Amino acid sequence: MIKKAVIPAAGIGKRFYPLTRAMPKEMLPLLDKPVIHYVVEEAVKSGLDEILIIVGHGKEAIIDYFDYNGLDEEMDNYGIRDFPSIYFIRQKEQLGLGDALKYSEKFVGDDPFVVLLGDTVYVSSTKKTVTRQLIDVYDKLKSPLIAVERVKREKMKDYGIISGEKIKKNLWKVDYLVEKPEPDKAPSDLGITGIYILDNKIFDYLNKIKIGKNNEYQLTDALNLYVKENDLHASSFKGKRYDIGTKGLWYEAFMEFLKNRRS
Ligand code: UTP
Repeated sequence: MIKKAVIPAAGIGKRFYPLTRAMPKEMLPLLDKPVIHYVVEEAVKSGLDEILIIVGHGKEAIIDYFDYNGLDEEMDNYGIRDFPSIYFIRQKEQLGLGDALKYSEKFVGDDPFVVLLGDTVYVSSTKKTVTRQLIDVYDKLKSPLIAVERVKREKMKDYGIISGEKIKKNLWKVDYLVEKPEPDKAPSDLGITGIYILDNKIFDYLNKIKIGKNNEYQLTDALNLYVKENDLHASSFKGKRYDIGTKGLWYEAFMEFLKNRRS
C-alpha cells in the first residue's frame, strides 16, 4: 500500500517573477485556497497520509499555512486541521527537481512513494482523484509509473516527453525520456505531467546524474538511467492538470475553479 507523498515546493519560480521575490508561487490562490492546499488535498484524498513537503528559502508561508490557527474554531478551515501531520525539509540550494528529491530519501525509506509537484493541480473527471487513478494502475503493475498526457507540438518544449511502447489502452512501457525537446526531436506526443510513483532505487540514479538542462539536476535524467536497468511505465488519466507555475495556466485554473465553485 502506498502511503507516502513527497511534494517538492522549493523552486525559485522564475516564471512568476517578480511576485516570487517575496511569495512562494505555491501560495498563489485558486479562489480562496492556495495551490499547495489542493496538492495536499489531492494526496490525502488519494489515501496518502504521510506527507513531506520540500521547501527552501522564502517558503515559510507554506509551513505557516498548515499550522493550527486561532480562527480555526470559528471559521471553516477547509479540512486543514484534519490533514495528517506534514513533514517539512529545506532544500539548501535550488538546484532543480532532481536535487530536491534527494532530500526525501530518509523519509521514503524502503517504501514506494508518490511525487506530486507543489505547483501542479489536478481536477479529475471521475470520482477517483487523478493520483488515485495512477496508484490503482501501480497496484496492478507493481512497477514505477509516471503520469502522461498528450501534448500539442508547440507545447513540447515545456515538457519532458517519453518514448515508449503502447502495451494497452492508456498504458506505455517507457524506453527513454527527453526533457523539453524541440518539437521535431520529440519521440512522441506524450508529456510528463508531474505525478510520479517511484521506488527507492531512484535515489541511486539521482545521486549519479550531472547538472543538466537549465543548469538544474533533472529528475528526467535520473529516470533515463533508471529505465535502462528497471521497468518504468507511463499512464494517462481522466482529468485535467494545471501547472500554475505559468501565468496562463494559473489564470485558466482560477477561472475554471470560479466557474465550478460551490458557494
Ligand atoms: P519548476 O521548474 O516548475 O519550478 O519545478 P521552478 O524552478 O520554481 O520554476 P521556474 O522555472 O523557476 O519558474 C517543478 C516543482 O519542483 C519544485 C518547484 O517548487 C515545483 O513545485 N522545485 C524545483 C524544487 O523543489 N526545487 C528546485 O530546485 C526546483
